[in-house]
Amino acid sequence: MSYDQIDDLDADGRTQEELVAVGRRTMSKNFRQAPVVFVRGEGMYVWDKAGKRYLDFVGGIAVNGLGHSHPRVVDAVQRQVRQLMHVSNLYFNEPQVRISEALAARYEAAAGKPGLVYLCNSGTEATEAALKLVRRYATKTLGQPDRSNVVSFTQSFHGRTMFALAATGQPKYHEGYTPLVPGFSYAAFNDLESVSRLVDQNTCAVILEPIQAEGGIILPAPGFLADVARLCRERGALLILDEVQVGIGRTGTFFAFEQEGVVPDVITLAKSLGAGFPIGAMISTEEAARGFEPGAHGSTFGGNAVGCRAALAVMDVIEQDGLCDHVRRQGAWFLEALDGLKRFPVVSGARGRGFILGLGLNKPVAQEITLACLERGLLVNKLNDTSLRFLPPLIAQRAHMRAALETLTEVLEATA
Ligand SMILES: Cc1ncc(COP(=O)(O)O)c(C=O)c1O
Repeated sequence: MSYDQIDDLDADGRTQEELVAVGRRTMSKNFRQAPVVFVRGEGMYVWDKAGKRYLDFVGGIAVNGLGHSHPRVVDAVQRQVRQLMHVSNLYFNEPQVRISEALAARYEAAAGKPGLVYLCNSGTEATEAALKLVRRYATKTLGQPDRSNVVSFTQSFHGRTMFALAATGQPKYHEGYTPLVPGFSYAAFNDLESVSRLVDQNTCAVILEPIQAEGGIILPAPGFLADVARLCRERGALLILDEVQVGIGRTGTFFAFEQEGVVPDVITLAKSLGAGFPIGAMISTEEAARGFEPGAHGSTFGGNAVGCRAALAVMDVIEQDGLCDHVRRQGAWFLEALDGLKRFPVVSGARGRGFILGLGLNKPVAQEITLACLERGLLVNKLNDTSLRFLPPLIAQRAHMRAALETLTEVLEATA
């Protein structure tokens, strides 16, 4: 399908500029959008209202794991929409049962023990469920009312609801929202001593991202996650791994924790799980899952048939197309190629794993570079003033990476 064949759902003749102006006037001010309105996506590309094509290395912030409108997901969703969209959690629906079975099996294969799945609609909701579960498990199931504290990490990001926000160890996200949910303290990532100081008999859980994503794409030091897991075991705390951004194949294994020799008690997923359709999940061990009895937690839309059908298609494609191996191989190549951009004085180096990669800059020019790339038809993400982030769909091929590098090179040549 070419751009001209687009199904014009909004044929009122308004231009991109006009729509941007309406958006700026009528939409809540909590986002800082670039002045483009996207109207179509296919594979690695999106098109804006003016018909311009962009190569997408942002992937909806790790959501479009299979690229845009993957035919297998589109087909599955269309068929499910025609058949059944929603019935509530008063009943089962088939895709919900099947995706729970598939995720539980994946967890069991990786962790060596059975897992139970709670379905929701976003990463924040998965965090919220995980934190409620661990607090309830310790204080109610185990009957240890003082064991309600959670240890999180500075530079972490776990979401925006009040429980998830308290777990997020970045003061800038807390501003104006105090008092926060009590019971949180923050250790330093890759500093086991700081974790050890905080985890005690009142700690119900430690929560962390296997790779700190929003906080700067910070990889765990070898053995760090395993050491945290051991500390948790010794002190009777549960380990929650937030795989919302790095799960579902992004690091080259289905779960990021598989590369770390740890067995988390709870993991959270969202983003790529639905390939663009909102769905989140929390998987916990059978033991930790005892924290929730009927009525302890819930969600009207969680487990809705369409999101679950999308997730089933995603899991099938990842498996059948061997995308984890692909990400491992291509990610290593792209990391090295990005690191080669150090030949530009403004670039300090690349970091990351699989298809979550960052490029460090020696000057605060990330915004300028992001806009220059946009201008040239490449989507990259400014992580902070001195870092760019690349979260390409897992289907990205070498040719896409070469094209992205070419554009980046042009932009860096023009960057003082
Ligand atoms: C690690 C992590 N956890 C949780 C969240 C929150 O997910 P959502 O935005 O879907 O609520 C994010 C979002 O960026 C994330 O990166």
